[in-house]
Amino acid sequence: MHAVALTALKGGVGKTSTTVNLAALAAAAGHRTLIWDIDPQAGATSCLGVKPKLRGGAQRLLGTDRDHTGSIRPSGLPRLDVLPGDVSLREADVIVSGNRKPRRSLKRVLAAVSRDYDVVLVDCPPGIGPATEVLVRSVDLLLVPVVPAPLDLRALDRFSDVLGDLGAPPELLAPFLSLVDRRKPLHRRLMDEVRTNRSFLGAAVPVSSAVERMPLEQIPTVVAAPRSLASIAMRELWAEVAERLDLPHP
Ligand SMILES: Nc1ncnc2c1ncn2[C@@H]1O[C@H](COP(=O)(O)OP(=O)(O)OP(=O)(O)O)[C@@H](O)[C@H]1O
Ligand SMILES: [Mg+2]
Repeated sequence: MHAVALTALKGGVGKTSTTVNLAALAAAAGHRTLIWDIDPQAGATSCLGVKPKLRGGAQRLLGTDRDHTGSIRPSGLPRLDVLPGDVSLREADVIVSGNRKPRRSLKRVLAAVSRDYDVVLVDCPPGIGPATEVLVRSVDLLLVPVVPAPLDLRALDRFSDVLGDLGAPPELLAPFLSLVDRRKPLHRRLMDEVRTNRSFLGAAVPVSSAVERMPLEQIPTVVAAPRSLASIAMRELWAEVAERLDLPHP
């Protein structure tokens, strides 16, 4: 099983929208796929029309050895399931740091789902608290959406400093451009700069009303609007992710 976390210090940069679309693409490519929504906002859960309800709450999931898989629900799309988020996850950091072995709590969840799924995409809340800190050391790839704007690029530098402090290998980090608006001269300039000076993935997800509509339609953009520019970019992104994970992709 391959685990990928969508994470960033910044909020509102496209983590959830990307999680849902990449998961739909992974499932369509034939991989048994799970979205693990570890964000109390439960955005990925509701984008797929799944009830935001974690049985026993975050305490049972992250603070005990009890069944970790009972809350998993089907998404309605073949091969795609969801381990839902709910508001109890606001306590995730307290629960994880209160465990005797913090890293074990998240590893246990990943181990419990490893037999049933080929790919797990974890949708993290913004920022990096104890739970995300532990998670980033338990996954195979960290996908970080970055808006081409100065403060966003600085936040990425800080994020990569934190990863360095945590002893994570630099190749774990896979930033990509998100919410790109090519009409903005600054976006165009920073895109060029990023492409020459930084190791970003090649895909750049544009601002798109098809993505914005997803929470209302409760269908992944790549399914509802496969020809939109955003869906084309999501497919490019999935191809790059699959390549990194050594997964077959069409
Ligand atoms: N490519 C896009 N085009 C247009 N709107 C987008 C795009 N990606 C995300 N959005 C919108 O921007 C907002 C934030 O997106 P999203 O929830 O995916 O970000 P996030 O990083 O998960 O946020 P949070 O940090 O709050 O979890 C949402 O309203 C979403 O619909
Ligand atoms: Mg989110």
